[in-house]
Amino acid sequence: MGRVVVCGSLNMDVIAESARRPMAGETVLGAAVSFLPGGKGLNQAIAAARLGVPAVMLGAVGGDLFGTTLRRVLAAAGVDGRGVRTVRAATTGVALIQVAQGDNAITGASGANMAFRAAMVREAPRRGDIWLAQFETPLATTETVLRRARRAGARTLLNLAPMVDHPARLLKLVDIAVLNEIELAQATKSKLGPKSSRRRVVAACEILRRRGVRTVVATLGARGAVAVSADGVLVVPGLKARVVDTTGAGDCFVGALAARFVRGATLADALRYANAAAACAVERLGAAPAMPSAREVAARLARA
Ligand code: RIB
Repeated sequence: MGRVVVCGSLNMDVIAESARRPMAGETVLGAAVSFLPGGKGLNQAIAAARLGVPAVMLGAVGGDLFGTTLRRVLAAAGVDGRGVRTVRAATTGVALIQVAQGDNAITGASGANMAFRAAMVREAPRRGDIWLAQFETPLATTETVLRRARRAGARTLLNLAPMVDHPARLLKLVDIAVLNEIELAQATKSKLGPKSSRRRVVAACEILRRRGVRTVVATLGARGAVAVSADGVLVVPGLKARVVDTTGAGDCFVGALAARFVRGATLADALRYANAAAACAVERLGAAPAMPSAREVAARLARA
């Protein structure tokens, strides 16, 4: 079996749960705080490992306690974290996450994530692997790494989150792009919202396909997901969930999609599976700790 190799961010998430989020200039008391592992990269690697596929994490942490903790978290989840470098001069990435009424707002302090360089990557891509990246580490690193993966015959998946300006040539290296509605709107300068018609979403996905991405997957939260490829449009409806915290649901979707692909699944199957995995993830607090096991996803699919 191939591996899911994630090049990306590792953060300590500082999560404050409150009845509502404060307005600018306001103080809201009564929050509960948790320190939980996160970072889109780490979340995606753990999602894949929890679903039983070999997962490798490549990235950078600072020479501090958070960095040591995140290494332990990876090891405990069965992720090969030997490719995570320590940058002594930097602090480990931190994300400040405000959770209220099931929704979240995130402020990221990238720290060592932005010191992650392609020269730090010793792992060689293999045919059969899927190499994943997001936009929380330097674009130059992502580009080099995806180019190497492509050259070796591995598949590439780019999660365009959070959206940043990126060179057009980057998308030509991407087999599968995954992004949410907000990111899709930003990337394509389209007007999209929670009520946008499927036709509008598909049209925006087509813009990215014209830029070189082979398959574009738009995640639509409670409305499910849409995939657009040369074979046409696939739609998977959202599953009902008792939402506790949506943080990391997109990462769960990405990790599960990649995990399914390395097992040889079709796009339709991988999409359905990732959608069910994400529905499980929103029912727990936190990002990495909310990633479901293969058994939980199977049970969810059986109920769908
Ligand atoms: O996608 C959720 C993640 O985004 C959080 O874990 C946080 O660390 C930020 O990277």
